[in-house]
Amino acid sequence: TGLVTLDSGFGNTASCKSEITYIDGDAGILRYRGYPIDDLAEKSTFLETSYLLIYGELPSEDQLADFSNKISRHTLLHEDLKRFFEGFPRDAHPMPVLSSAVSALSTFYQDALDPFNHDAVELSTVRLLAKLPTIAAYAYKKSVGQPFLYPDNSLGLVENFLRMTFGFPAEPYEVDPAFAKALDTLLILHADHEQNCSTSTVRLVGSSQANLFASVSAGINALFGPLHGGANQAVLEMLQKIQVEENGDVESFVKRVKNKEDKGARLMGFGHRVYKNYDPRAKIVKQSADEILSKLGVTDPLLDIAKALEEKALADDYFIERKLYPNVDFYTGVIYRAMGFPTKMFTVLFALGRLPGWIAHWREMINDPTTKIGRPRQVYTGATERSYVPMGDR
Ligand code: CMC
Repeated sequence: TGLVTLDSGFGNTASCKSEITYIDGDAGILRYRGYPIDDLAEKSTFLETSYLLIYGELPSEDQLADFSNKISRHTLLHEDLKRFFEGFPRDAHPMPVLSSAVSALSTFYQDALDPFNHDAVELSTVRLLAKLPTIAAYAYKKSVGQPFLYPDNSLGLVENFLRMTFGFPAEPYEVDPAFAKALDTLLILHADHEQNCSTSTVRLVGSSQANLFASVSAGINALFGPLHGGANQAVLEMLQKIQVEENGDVESFVKRVKNKEDKGARLMGFGHRVYKNYDPRAKIVKQSADEILSKLGVTDPLLDIAKALEEKALADDYFIERKLYPNVDFYTGVIYRAMGFPTKMFTVLFALGRLPGWIAHWREMINDPTTKIGRPRQVYTGATERSYVPMGDR
């Protein structure tokens, strides 16, 4: 058995080598395949960034057109899969609906699941990228009791998603380009973040040679937790609580958090395992929050509460000593709300963004000849050997 080292939460243990994403947590640097996140957020598109993450290089014009065409041809859901949505309760949270539907994809595409068959992996990659927005839109439609819309493949990925989410079957839906662009940028910011909880889950499940759909479905469930992707929903609920219960008083809320008054309650959207400096994604989201809200013609007191809360926390010793800064989830919720998404959909939007990262990592893992099945060790702290006690003697 040898000597085993305990590293709770893998704070200091690398699980793999990776060429995909670079983070310098002290300097607040994030790069996908070497390209700085601010550059990509400003100049790239979500589709192009997805290509970059998965294939390692920025695509040529032809490569991007081909990638985009392939995805357009796979956006439909099988009619039998569509029926799944009828079985969930109306008030179901869309995240487990999403993971269930993605898990079910491996029952519909049993012809192309072999993780070592290049063509099969390509097909699964395209199917996932194409179908997740449709699944997400249907999860939304189900929750509000509205009819599903078939994808319109003359539209781009984000426009198509917005139309399927907010449109109605017999009515034309004009996609506001500013709205689509803002969402596209947010998806870029979420597209990868090296070995976070959900991506590590995708790799761990995939290391058993489970197929891509099964692995990504597991990743979606990991993302659902409030300490990970679920934080964007939790932030908005926290801001609403401050508005209603504390009358907008951020000071008393910060005091309660730092005195750990409400058992385990944290300042949601703050802190990060790797960033001990301002999260570069949060910087971009914060800058665009004002801009997007004014473009959409929305004023939201929750944005003011968020800004006041940030200012208060950043000036407080508790947060300074622990190097706690706003993370990507802190301001996104306010933007999603202005866009008209219900709070329950926020983590689904994170999943749409993170999908290319999960796929890129799964492919890197499966193609790496040094990959072994993920199988952590433990430090056993239970009883030493005991003799079985018959029922009558206990
Ligand atoms: N509010 C108050 N205190 C905090 C917070 C917070 N948000 N985050 C960390 N701390 C404290 C924590 O109580 C501990 O203090 P002490 O040493 O007195 O016990 C210290 O800071 C170190 O915390 P930790 O739990 O050891 O840090 P970690 O690296 O294990 O956790 C984290 C990272 C992101 C889970 C955590 O900061 C957190 O729970 N944040 C709130 C949830 C959140 O916003 N999650 C989104 C993360 S970014 C995007 C994503 O992955 O989705």
